[in-house]
Amino acid sequence: MCKITVAKSAGFCFGVERAVNELMRIAKEKKTVTLGPIIHNGSVIEKFESLGVKIVNSPDETPKGATLAIRTHGVKKSVIEKIKSENIDFCDLTCPFVKKIHNIASEYHEKGYKIIIAGDKHHPEVDGINGWCDDSALVISDLSELDGKISPSDRVCLVAQTTMDKKNYEKIKKFVKISCQNPIIFDTICSATEKRQKDAEEISKTVDIMLVVGGRMSANTKRLADISKKYCKNTFQIETVRDLPLRFDIPKNKIGITAGASTPPWIIKEVVGEMEEMVNGEVSFAEVLKEHEK
Ligand code: F3S
Repeated sequence: MCKITVAKSAGFCFGVERAVNELMRIAKEKKTVTLGPIIHNGSVIEKFESLGVKIVNSPDETPKGATLAIRTHGVKKSVIEKIKSENIDFCDLTCPFVKKIHNIASEYHEKGYKIIIAGDKHHPEVDGINGWCDDSALVISDLSELDGKISPSDRVCLVAQTTMDKKNYEKIKKFVKISCQNPIIFDTICSATEKRQKDAEEISKTVDIMLVVGGRMSANTKRLADISKKYCKNTFQIETVRDLPLRFDIPKNKIGITAGASTPPWIIKEVVGEMEEMVNGEVSFAEVLKEHEK
């Protein structure tokens, strides 16, 4: 019997679902543009494009009378100030968990702390957070980048990108605790991310093939693929059902499927359906699929 296990945490997280639903509501009522892609998923972007929602790269490009939507990753303080000063109608869809990090960065920067952000310096979420402490943060992706950058007398405030790898962040936290006196450390990795990473680890340990579904630009999807590869060498990161190999020349008694936080339920459903046909056997579904099928 072939078994397909779908991670309970696969797919849209709270912040993405909230943003997608809200954008859908606004787009039906008025002309709307988004500042950058609303989330890192091509299928979702296409869906919004079909509703007339265009992507702009700067607030200046907002057409007259249109509403500008800020995406889940959030933006710098200066961007919000610009939007307000130019009286552009806007809707802030920044995930509340990201907003919380903005507030921490802002508060502790004003108190004179050196802000350290553990995350990917090229990711828009990190760029946005840095913009709430006057772009003064030290951004590191792993412990080696911290070497020689802090001293015991530094007043340090440490935060993490919401999708940071938990084990990596634990090492950074430990180093900061022994290197500085009374550092302020926040656990800002999103619990949805943690859960998704844990599920990916658990499932990939037990399967022959692991499929990780999500946009190629999605940082959290890539992270899930990286974690899964550690435990299942036959891990495939795919964007949609079209990326599935035509056949797998490997054992496929147990197949695991997970998906990034920006992967919509209809994409997951298609992939599971295709795999069900491909393995041509008795398939047992995880509970989460039933939820997606509702
Ligand atoms: Fe927000 Fe966590 Fe999703 S930070 S956008 S709920 S992964």
